[in-house]
Amino acid sequence: MTEQKSTYAQRDIGSYLHPYTNLSTHAEVGPLIITDGKGIYVSDEAGHEYIEGMAGLWCTSLGFGEQELVEAAIAQMRRLPTYHSFRSRSTLPGIDLAERLLAVAPVPMSKAFFANSGSEANDTAVKLIWYYNAGLGRPEKRKMIGRHYGYHGVTIAATSLTGVPRNHTDFNVPLPGFVHTDMPHHYRHARPGESEEDFATRLAANLEALILAEGPQTVAAFFAEPVMGAGGVILPPRTYFEKVQAVLRRHDVLFVADEVICGFGRTGNMWGTQTYKLHPDIVTCAKGLSSAYLPISAVMISEQIYQGLVQQSRKHGVFAHGFTYTGHPVCSAVALKTLEIMQKRDIVGHVRQVAPALQGAVQALGQHPLVGHARGIGLIAALELMADKGARKAFPPENKVGEYCMDRAQAHGLLIRSIGDTIAICPPLIITAEQIGTMMERLSAALDDTLAWVRKG
Ligand SMILES: Cc1ncc(COP(=O)(O)O)c(C=O)c1O
Repeated sequence: MTEQKSTYAQRDIGSYLHPYTNLSTHAEVGPLIITDGKGIYVSDEAGHEYIEGMAGLWCTSLGFGEQELVEAAIAQMRRLPTYHSFRSRSTLPGIDLAERLLAVAPVPMSKAFFANSGSEANDTAVKLIWYYNAGLGRPEKRKMIGRHYGYHGVTIAATSLTGVPRNHTDFNVPLPGFVHTDMPHHYRHARPGESEEDFATRLAANLEALILAEGPQTVAAFFAEPVMGAGGVILPPRTYFEKVQAVLRRHDVLFVADEVICGFGRTGNMWGTQTYKLHPDIVTCAKGLSSAYLPISAVMISEQIYQGLVQQSRKHGVFAHGFTYTGHPVCSAVALKTLEIMQKRDIVGHVRQVAPALQGAVQALGQHPLVGHARGIGLIAALELMADKGARKAFPPENKVGEYCMDRAQAHGLLIRSIGDTIAICPPLIITAEQIGTMMERLSAALDDTLAWVRKG
């Protein structure tokens, strides 16, 4: 250990296995221990305050310290702290939440199922589709298509849908029958001079070729995030989803929109599905559903799929899927309150109002010598750092330029995320235009530090 660590840091190293962490570095460096949060700010054990430029893990949409959510949890805790919904049991907040969610669904949806995380929601979607197709007498129609660098979680099926190599290597996934098609990253993967439209046509043709090669009678569903988050904040190129959805329809392949990041206002509409005119059969969501105050996720299904499940449960005597905490009353009460606040305070309207401040500042930073590509929509954005932006030459990954920039941002009082050399920004939706200005000044300072470091070699 290189420096004196707090007792908590030592205890953390001694006891806490951290997700998505370099475990060997962690044992040396220790944790950043966050102790308090208010609005868009969090502060650490030593009292340093940071702008939470990632809303935690793309999730704390209403910011920290929202008392109405706290009160909703307390009130429900007092009345009925827990109950399940197996075997036709139900709870008031669970019913209210299901109704409210269906009322704001981006396309007509019949029923909502609840789970605890985005991963579980996506695993559930996979299982429902298998069960549904089995009921239709076509159990061989079971393959799932994800996208390279798509992110859908870490449980076994969700991580199989995920297309990030490090999520697969040595973890014995993807499961058989999970295949991946192109990521729609025009800046990186378009051919010289290829328009967004032509790129989209090529990717849709590749998807169709994959479905034909696998055999359409074996392909069940395609999963996609409207904007790819953890893969690097990749916005779909113009006409991409229109062309992809036409392919899916041609081959009777279901479309699952993974709205875990985009849902609840992030892209300037309630859903990414609305922003990009999607027609999903299933929508999965989590994170912003409860502003991440308590773990809850949902799977919304179409009437057609619901009817298939009803038939199956008639045949088998039970729909044998569900979690102890499905529709947990306290989580449901907090999610319900989150949706109420979103409506009452017109959070989506607020996002639309302040998004130009963020996107304008992001485009301005696109002029920075390190930034090859600046992109975003609503209150999500990214800066892709390049060694030579003119020649579109990336840095060698081992130089960890993005990570350096993230560390410098932290030193300037801003928490953001590096995804390779892409810097992701995804602040709480309640951020003001003025706070966006401060956040981007800090990011600009981090970029300048990074440039100086890079130039020093
Ligand atoms: C698009 C998307 N889907 C699914 C997940 C998995 O959610 P969880 O971490 O709650 O399991 C994430 C997490 O970041 C995500 O971004």
